[in-house]
Amino acid sequence: MCGIIGYIGPRNAISVILNGLRRLEYRGYDSAGIAILGDNGIRVTRAVGKLSNLESRLQQGGDRPSFATRDAPRAIGIGHTRWATHGGVTEHNAHPHLNDAGTLAVIQNGIVENFIELKSELLAEGVRFRSETDTEVIPHLVDLYMKAGMPFARAAFAAIARLQGSNAVVMMSAQEPDKLIAARLGHAGGIVIGVNPDETFVASDIPGILDYTRNVIFLEDGEWAIAQAGQVRVYRLDGAPVNKQRLTIAWDPVSVEKGEYRHFMQKEIFEQARAVTDTLRGRVNFETGEVALEHLEVGTGHAEGIPARIHTVACGTSKHAGMIGKFFIERIAQVAVEVDYGSEYRYRDPIIEPGIAVLGITQSGETADTLAAMSLGKARGARIWAIVNAIGSQAERMAEGVIHMRAGPEIGVCSTKTFLTSIVDQYLLACALAQRVRRSDADGRPDPYALAKDLALLPGLISQTLKPDPIYEALAHRFHDRRHFLFLGRGINYPIALEGALKLKEISYIHAEGYPAGEMKHGPIALIDETMPVVCVAVQDGVYEKMISQIEQVKARGGIVIAIATEGDDFIRQKADYVINVPAAPALLTPALTAIPMQRLAYEIATHLGCDVDQPRNLAKSVTVE
Ligand code: F6R
Repeated sequence: MCGIIGYIGPRNAISVILNGLRRLEYRGYDSAGIAILGDNGIRVTRAVGKLSNLESRLQQGGDRPSFATRDAPRAIGIGHTRWATHGGVTEHNAHPHLNDAGTLAVIQNGIVENFIELKSELLAEGVRFRSETDTEVIPHLVDLYMKAGMPFARAAFAAIARLQGSNAVVMMSAQEPDKLIAARLGHAGGIVIGVNPDETFVASDIPGILDYTRNVIFLEDGEWAIAQAGQVRVYRLDGAPVNKQRLTIAWDPVSVEKGEYRHFMQKEIFEQARAVTDTLRGRVNFETGEVALEHLEVGTGHAEGIPARIHTVACGTSKHAGMIGKFFIERIAQVAVEVDYGSEYRYRDPIIEPGIAVLGITQSGETADTLAAMSLGKARGARIWAIVNAIGSQAERMAEGVIHMRAGPEIGVCSTKTFLTSIVDQYLLACALAQRVRRSDADGRPDPYALAKDLALLPGLISQTLKPDPIYEALAHRFHDRRHFLFLGRGINYPIALEGALKLKEISYIHAEGYPAGEMKHGPIALIDETMPVVCVAVQDGVYEKMISQIEQVKARGGIVIAIATEGDDFIRQKADYVINVPAAPALLTPALTAIPMQRLAYEIATHLGCDVDQPRNLAKSVTVE
């Protein structure tokens, strides 16, 4: 959730850290803070609200360390953007947090679950607390150990070893200004360390350091690091050194820029044809239809071959993608799929028999609830697969088999291109599973080779769905003042109705409900009157006629119908008040198209209302708390 950044090296640390925080602001934006070690010790500046408030405060000058205007020979500092968990959104609760003497600064992402116990212990030692956060126990604890004679790294390690819960922590000390200490405990967000010959960067996510380096290592759960300029040593919690593999990140720094777009969300919507092309690249032989997934072998690792059943676990938009994937995998591969919220899976005590694969879908690869569900599967002997966008994320490292979304960095808090690419990944998975057991049209099932070839059409169809269309602006103009929206879909497009409602509510704050269209008559129909816009996904597929009769029912009660329909469908124009066209497509691929009008409609309404679509209130890109 929170964004973490640390730097040690020859550059101006304030610029590096502010730039990193700007890149990571999507992770949390309640408040922000920075600590820099200057000639007169550690100087901390914090501000409530967006990062720009912190920047203005730093520009006012009063809080700048004395070397801020020149490059210190070896500058060191840490910065943080907060998504509040413990303690309100106030300046004194913003990170970094200090020890009493102000010689130690700490930033953290996660929750120190035993902070009450640690706090009482520290209060008994006479420590004074300045915030209501759980984080503040950390600098005081390290301080206590340093006062007892431990050097910084040992004291930091001793304190880290006492923390319970999932935490990512970075700290620095004025007494040993040549190092940062970073630690990762549990699933609460990653720590990526970037290393150049004379400088080192620490961040919660790759975009934070992508402007400076692509050579990185990732800390695993239970690892901590001593980062010095140009070098890193990593240890396990038992003190054993770990030989970490350095990875090179392929992402381009331009991919984290908005370019000509007004918002990241807009850019990410309009780059979906490119994202899907990347997702497909090298995975489908379009001559034969054969699918090859480079990091996931569908039929090995377990004696039984392909899984007997798949449990998909995911949250929010990724869960909606999983619901669509269920259609693909059941229809194409004949493997039964159950789809659960990551946050619910553990609490229903799922039956995990031999031969089950647990498939986590998560763009961030850090969502605590999804990771916890995957861990449960692992503990009970299931094989673990993941569909992830963030390279090197915890979900990827936990899984035996991975399919990368290859969407590139998604900065807008609201998921768009990762939704589409995760749908495509599941379609590929379904074809790969079916091809493994050589199911073809000979057994009456759809031919998985022909279905894989259909994917060649998708980037072009997506581009057509993204062409300029004045309808979005017209709809935003007409309906931005509505308090409620209903979204209906059926079959494979029912999850698209859920996704449409989620998109609208999270960025425009308009209440919206997604419903399976056939359920409307069992309750929601009571809501319909002449003020209620009802968005109906009614493409020409196997449930088209059923959707038409739902539309009739809405119209009969005075509701306003906005239909998402197949291009060339003139009949629906007589029924619906407004029609948004998507091109005709093979039935199983329609959700990858109908999702786009949902994104565009939500974007247009939210921007019409002046909402901050990239950073909607109360949300964060990586939800690393349970
Ligand atoms: C909605 C949205 C969220 C995420 C959810 C899971 O636009 O982005 O609902 O889909 O928080 O996130 P990941 O996919 O990172 O696990």
